[in-house]
Formats: sequence, structure tokens, C-alpha cells
Amino acid sequence: MRTPIIAGNWKLNKTISEGVALTTALKASVADVNDVEIIVAPPFTALAAVNAVIAGSNIRLSAQDVYSEDSGAFTGEVSAPMLKDVGCEYVIIGHSERRQYFGETNDSVNEKVKAALAYELKPIICVGEQLEERETGQTEAIIEDHVTGGIAGLSDAELLSCVIAYEPVWAIGTGKTATPAQAQEVHSFIRGLLTKTYSADVALQLCLQYGGSVKPENASELMAQPDVDGALVGGASLEAESFAKIVASGQ
Ligand code: PGA
Repeated sequence: MRTPIIAGNWKLNKTISEGVALTTALKASVADVNDVEIIVAPPFTALAAVNAVIAGSNIRLSAQDVYSEDSGAFTGEVSAPMLKDVGCEYVIIGHSERRQYFGETNDSVNEKVKAALAYELKPIICVGEQLEERETGQTEAIIEDHVTGGIAGLSDAELLSCVIAYEPVWAIGTGKTATPAQAQEVHSFIRGLLTKTYSADVALQLCLQYGGSVKPENASELMAQPDVDGALVGGASLEAESFAKIVASGQ
């Protein structure tokens, strides 16, 4: 009942022309896929050009971050109405790189989630523990903190417009993927957590993505887990061929 969602997070990569070339190739490779939600998240500068390429296709547009205010004296920021205006349907919020390098907290994530929802953008909320936290048995506490902090105050309907992406920090860009069992364990923990605050029905409907070194070689077994409903892909989304293979494994 949950449509798999495969999203490519390009991070700080691709000029406009490179992004257009990648998206043009991807569009051709995934043209026949209709049972997977396919998303690309280019840097802000390439959003408009990529949106023109995907017009009328089965690929959706996401930004990689958003600011919580609509407008004003906030130099360097981009707001939810601006992302809506450029054609975004999704926005990644609270990625571990933003938490690690740019001071993102559960509170700022929550503000951004609410700002996105106010403009009918669907937040992809990232949560995940660091290696040391896993090794000291804190994984569930950290995940609970990130999830409950990020979605605080959301109604059932609002939560259902969100995607939660579990991304263990130690697996991001390291080539070290969580095993399918490790991913499933945390995903099932998140679903259980949501059942406590929301209804079992809402928890069952919510899409939970896994992220962290997802590659064509490991995507199928990760996605075969009962509570893994998709993937948030970094490195392997920078080439059409590898990303298209991951999309195919969601079918
Ligand atoms: P990776 O990045 O696939 O390069 O590990 C995943 C992410 O950060 O979303």
C-alpha cells in the first residue's frame, strides 16, 4: 500500500548544464516506471532548469533545504514559497550534513517542516545516529529524539505529507551500508514510535526511506525489508545509469 519513493540528493554537485544532462538521461531511462515515485534534488541553482526537463514526466523535483521564514532580511536563504514557485514538490529537511556543518537542530527542522507544509511542499525529514552513538547503544534514543522533534505538532494529515528518511551518519558517503536487518530494525522502531503518538493506520501509511551508501548492488535487498519503503541516494544518484538501476529495484 506504500508507493516506494526513490530520491536522488545531488548535494553540492552539478552545474546547470550538468544537471540538465543528467536529468535528460535519467528521464529516458525511467520513462516506463510508473509504480515508483522518482525524485531528484538538485542544488538551488539548477532547480528551474531541471524542472523544465522533467515537465510532464514521472520525475518530481525536490530542494535540499528550505528556510522557515517566507521572506525578509535573511541573506542567503531560500523560502518555501520560492521553492513552490520554482516547481518543487518535495524538500529535504534536516539532512545530517546540515545538522553537522550548519547547526541544524530538531527545533529548526520542525520549523522548516511546518514552513514547507504551509506551502504544500512535502518534507523528506532526515534522522540518523552517528557511529559513536550506535556503538554506545544510543541509536533508538537518538532516532526517537530526531523523529519526535522533527514532527512535533503535526496533525495526522500533515504527517502523511511527510517522508521520514533514516540515514545512519556512519553509512553516508562511506561505502558502509547498514545491513538490511539493521535498516529494518530502525525502520520498524520508527513505525512503532509513530503508532504511539499517531494512529496505527497513519504509521502504516507513512513512507520510510533508507539512506546511506545505497547502490545498485544493495538497493534490492534493502528495499525488500518490510518497513523500508524507498531510498535517499547521494553518490549513486549523480549518474543516470546507477540511479535508474536503483529506481528499478523499487519496482
Ligand atoms: P550517499 O548519501 O548515498 O552518498 O551515502 C546519502 C545521503 O546523504 O542522502
